[in-house]
Amino acid sequence: MRQAGRYLPEYRKLREKAGDFFKLCFTPELAAEATLQPIRRFGFDAAILFSDILVVPYALGQSVQFTLNEGPQLDAITDRRGVTQLKTELDHGVLTAIYETIERVKEDLPPAVSLLGFCGAPWTVATYMVAGSGTSEQEPARRFAYQDPQGFSDLIEKLIEASASYLVRQLEAGVDAVQIFDTWAGVLPAEEFHRWCIEPIQRIIAKVRHQVANAKIIGFPRGAGTTLLRYVEGVPVDAISLDWTVDPVFLREHVAMDVPVQGNLDPLVLLAGGAALDRSVEAILKAFSGRPFIFNLGHGVLPQTPIAHVEQMLARVRAVEGR
Ligand code: CP3
Repeated sequence: MRQAGRYLPEYRKLREKAGDFFKLCFTPELAAEATLQPIRRFGFDAAILFSDILVVPYALGQSVQFTLNEGPQLDAITDRRGVTQLKTELDHGVLTAIYETIERVKEDLPPAVSLLGFCGAPWTVATYMVAGSGTSEQEPARRFAYQDPQGFSDLIEKLIEASASYLVRQLEAGVDAVQIFDTWAGVLPAEEFHRWCIEPIQRIIAKVRHQVANAKIIGFPRGAGTTLLRYVEGVPVDAISLDWTVDPVFLREHVAMDVPVQGNLDPLVLLAGGAALDRSVEAILKAFSGRPFIFNLGHGVLPQTPIAHVEQMLARVRAVEGR
């Protein structure tokens, strides 16, 4: 997750050249370069498309801006009227550049390296659309959902349709699998989690597989805690991406050993490095052995992470795995 980013000097250079973050996302030549940079430097087994989850609100007609070091700024949707002002369908014309990036990356990527596409889950994307920015507890969206469930449901419906058609187009353009990021799944009580996370993702998956029968889909319900079990039972993903707080023992006790998982190194231990990093890597490889497993972080690489620590992590993983 967040392979490309501010911890890489070559990314910072590209970002400066583009000037604007969305310009980087929407210029195929530059976005393909950002996608490939971490593969060239580290030889990861999979690349993730360089883009952002907020291209979907943008292609639905909402204004979205990235101010340097301030995160995203959107024109907040505060009521039902705001929802009706969005486009009825995702404007794929706006997203053509992204599909072209995928085609370019596929051409340049070694055949053994998989390419991942992605979108944000409706709930997570809605939290930004409603608040107009990142918020610590996603209060604006939660309040909207409680005060006007129908209005909020209209927004989620739009995002279900948009996300499904966006993922289908990414798969058609050549990605090998897609990941659905539900970064803010962890703030909802069980019933709301079911309504705003599980059900919408179930519907997206059904729609995607209706058009691309064998679509490979990874789910990331970050911070779901014990409601993770509802997600595993209810959402037919091919693999579950685990955040760094998920206890492997809990997983072994409650989730069948044939369910593939990926994760879940704490991004902060990658930043910290040293003996703690080695210990964490080894503990994860040991704890998840015996089931289909993809070693990964539990969330994105933090901007201050030293490159040497990423190298240390990879050396450790490869030593343990005998590669
Ligand atoms: O890993 C990759 O290189 C793939 C590209 C990718 C980005 N964003 C690039 C990015 C992916 C998969 C995302 C997903 C994303 N974007 C999520 C879900 C996963 C997660 O990280 O939780 C979310 C919630 C967003 C929304 C978003 N984009 C925020 C809140 C921010 C600002 C936060 C920050 O780190 O500054 C972004 C910006 C962003 N997206 C950057 C990158 C490389 C940093 C932008 C920059 O260069 O200034």
